[in-house]
Amino acid sequence: MHVTLRQLQAFEAVARLRSFSRAAEEMHVTQPTVSKQIRLLHEQVGLPLLEQLGKKVFLTEAGRELYATCSDWLDTWGRFEQTIANLKGLKQGRLRIAAVTTTKYFMPRILGPFCAQYPGVDIALEVVNRDRLLDRLANNQDDLYVMGVPPVGMDIESEPFMDNPLILLAPAGHPMVGRKRIPFAELAQETFLMREQGSGTRMTMERLFQERDTPLRVRMELGSNEAIKQAVAGGLGLGLLSRSTLNMDPSQKELAVLDVEGFPVMRAWYVVRPKGKQLSAVAATFLEFLRGNVQLLVPRQ
Ligand code: PGA
Repeated sequence: MHVTLRQLQAFEAVARLRSFSRAAEEMHVTQPTVSKQIRLLHEQVGLPLLEQLGKKVFLTEAGRELYATCSDWLDTWGRFEQTIANLKGLKQGRLRIAAVTTTKYFMPRILGPFCAQYPGVDIALEVVNRDRLLDRLANNQDDLYVMGVPPVGMDIESEPFMDNPLILLAPAGHPMVGRKRIPFAELAQETFLMREQGSGTRMTMERLFQERDTPLRVRMELGSNEAIKQAVAGGLGLGLLSRSTLNMDPSQKELAVLDVEGFPVMRAWYVVRPKGKQLSAVAATFLEFLRGNVQLLVPRQ
């Protein structure tokens, strides 16, 4: 059989994610490219490997056999690539980082200087919400993961590297602005703007209100921190966000941070990896760089 590594990678991604579109997204190619690779693979194997019913993708018996075989091959190949990159030292290599959406306010500030110091390193940064990031972690898709709430019950190593206070934002003209130590219970009278299902910020917010036995009234659900800030500025409600989202934002004049009892909620940003995962030389170097250069992540005022 004339089977290529690319075909196997496409098949493995579709079989694991049960979706052509998600496989294409992960591989940074178009969906027709993935379909073509799979079609060529079908022709070589001589039996159908996948069945598509509606939007769902199922593995045939031959598909299940191939999936088991090619997951092992690709793992071995990945280790080979890593060994070669290690042998070449840091001149080249790929660093795969998955980071939650909120980190987009600071991750580029460390990646820039890191790339300048190691120009041969090619970085793939996936920015996804917490739920998608946990899927990637469970599937061992990246070298390192950056998030605010490491999962409990997964076999991981997590290391805090920077503070991640959560603050309560109001529009500048809100009656609570300027008051000191506002009792938490008063928040029951307010309406809130909430991040989408699967967001770590949303999870923290829901837990906080639950712990305090305070009803949380949600006016609107929005899929990004920026959208929340704009909606708060527009007077649609209050927002609970990581302080990292405020960095150098021109619309900040329209926003005020409320002094509510229990705020800021002190948390940390963590760098996470599966327990016992052998880091590539590039990933280990990045981790050292991150530990030694946390000051780069904080914007100069
Ligand atoms: P989010 O995650 O960007 O998915 O809200 C933030 C966090 O984990 O604190």
